[in-house]
Order: sequence, then C-alpha cells, then structure tokens
Amino acid sequence: MTTTEWAGAAAIVDGPGGYTGIEATPEWADEVRRLARARNATVLAHNYQLPAIQDVADHVGDSLALSRIAAEAEEGTIVFCGVHFMAETAKILSPDKTVLIPDERAGCSLADSINADQLREWKAEHPDAVVVSYVNTTAEVKGLTDICCTSSNAVDVVASIDPDREVLFLPDQFLGAHVKRVTGRENIHIWAGECHVHAGINGDELTAKAKAHPDADLFVHPECGCATSALYLAGEGFVPDDKVKILSTGGMIDAARETGAKQVLVATEVGMLHQLRKAAPGIDFQAVNDRASCPYMKMITPAALLRCLQEGKDEVHVAPDVAERARLSVQRMIAIGNPGGGE
Ligand code: 13P
Ligand code: SF4
Repeated sequence: MTTTEWAGAAAIVDGPGGYTGIEATPEWADEVRRLARARNATVLAHNYQLPAIQDVADHVGDSLALSRIAAEAEEGTIVFCGVHFMAETAKILSPDKTVLIPDERAGCSLADSINADQLREWKAEHPDAVVVSYVNTTAEVKGLTDICCTSSNAVDVVASIDPDREVLFLPDQFLGAHVKRVTGRENIHIWAGECHVHAGINGDELTAKAKAHPDADLFVHPECGCATSALYLAGEGFVPDDKVKILSTGGMIDAARETGAKQVLVATEVGMLHQLRKAAPGIDFQAVNDRASCPYMKMITPAALLRCLQEGKDEVHVAPDVAERARLSVQRMIAIGNPGGGE
C-alpha cells in the first residue's frame, strides 16, 4: 500500500494543539513502520508519549537511555517522539544524522525557565563553579555547561565533581533539592526553575493517597513538588522507608519489575502508566494526580508522526558552533551513571 492509497493520510488537520485527524489504527501503525523503513529511520519514544506512539516506536525509554540509543543508532534518520530539547540532544550527539521531531512546537516549560543570558550572568557571579545542567535545557544553555545530567544520573554526576568546587545546578529546583539531599553537598547553588506538570503534583495529594493506600509503594519522580513530602512521610513513619522510591521514569520500570507490592502510587506524568502496566501487569498502578499530563509531550499525535514520516518534517537543526560547545557536556552525561531505563 502506498501513502496516497491509504485513505487516512488525507485527513491530517493542523490546529492550535497540534496535528489531529488520524486514529491510531493497526493500518496507521503499519503505515508508520513502512514509512520509517523506507526512510531508514529509527523511531524513539519517551515514556510520557501517548500509548499508541510508545507501541509503534522502535525504542521507548527515559531521557538518558534515549540519548544513548540516539548516539549509537545505525539508521541515518532519528525520529524523536518527545519534546524539542530531546531531539536537539540527539542532533548534538549525531550531527551527521537527520533528526526529525513530529511537531517542533513541542517545547518544555522547564527548559524555558533559564536562557543562555541568564546562565551567563549566574556564571559571572560564581566564576569557579562547575555548571551542571539537567538535559531539559536548550542547546545554547548546554553550550555553557560543564556536565549535563538526567534524573537517572544527576546524583552520580554531582558526586563525580571535586567536593571543594562550587556547583551551579539548573534549572529544576526539586531535582536540585533531591541531589543536595542525597549527596549531602552544601556548596551547590540551585536555579529556581520547575516543570509545571510535576510541580503540580503536590504533597497534600500524595499524603492523602498514601494514607488511603497504606500498603502501596510510592514511585516519585524527582521533578515533583511532592518529592520532599514523600520523604517526610517516610521520615515520620507514615510510610515505611523502603516503600518510597525517588526514581527517573526508566528507574520506575526497573523498580516495578522488582517490587513485591500489589499496588503502586505513581507521582509523575500520566503517560508513564502505560509502560509500567506493560512491565508489571499484575500490579495496580494509580496516578497520584491523574491530571498530570504534559501538553507538549501530547503534541506528538498519530497524525503528527504520520506527517513527519511522509514529509520528512520537522527537521531539527542546531548551529554547528553551538552543537560543538554543547557536545562535550552531553557526552559526559551519557558516560556517567546507571544504564538509564529503556529497551
Ligand atoms: P526522565 O525520563 O529522564 O526521567 O525525564 C523526565 C522528564 O520530565 C522529561 O521531560
Ligand atoms: Fe518539560 Fe515537564 Fe513536559 Fe517533561 S513533563 S517535557 S519537564 S514540561
């Protein structure tokens, strides 16, 4: 079947929330796979993507695992079903490959919370500090960074730095607080940024859910506003210590396979539930906040992916000088810490 023979292809509509008009049918999935093969493309999907996008992708994982897969991909084209900074990171690592994102408007409120000029000013106030940036940043910010990290290796990255050097950690204040707590480091300055989706998962909701389900494990992403509350609940004995796990999205999949719990309360973006239920079908996974859906991640719709593969759009470009400055910090990131969670 060619694209033009496939009736669904004509129905793509571009609206304010992204591309719509295509149902994720088995025919759609076949067409996506056929077009990907024809383009010699590998399709990567973050754990927060819509279930249909996760299911059609060649690889699903957390930010660290997907960066590593992108760096090693044999295909000439990477289709990144995630948000813009993730696709940019893939382009920084593989400048000779074509990197496509199904909708370039898929941004990130956390990455928007610091720009290159703000970082330059902050660095000028702490000229000897080591700059650690979360991967959720623009390529320009990465270019001013010493080491990038993801939620799955942030603690290892900061622990790898000479304890006598000051650290500037950006942009996520909740991940920064987690890293400070775990490393016990005092000479770390933390930027006051946040992800609006994770910051909205609050401590009161988590406390109420944890008290209503006392036997459940708590899986909490460190970007959450409630991470401190989760540790407080454990500290005060409301929840046993070993039931509270602060994890990256990939770490949650590994923990789901290992836990003996029958129920798990999940504090992160709701797309995560799909991979968790696939990884451990016997466990009852419940969102701490079922409204925690990232509007940017959800812009990668079935229609957007189809359009991307048909038209070779949207192509991600990073200016070669910016990419060159950013590459070292990203390469350091993928060299440090655990494998990251992904297929
Ligand atoms: P990880 O998949 O690395 O845990 O990242 C979460 C996230 O918010 C990405 O936007
Ligand atoms: Fe950015 Fe938050 Fe969406 Fe992740 S969930 S892409 S950090 S806005």
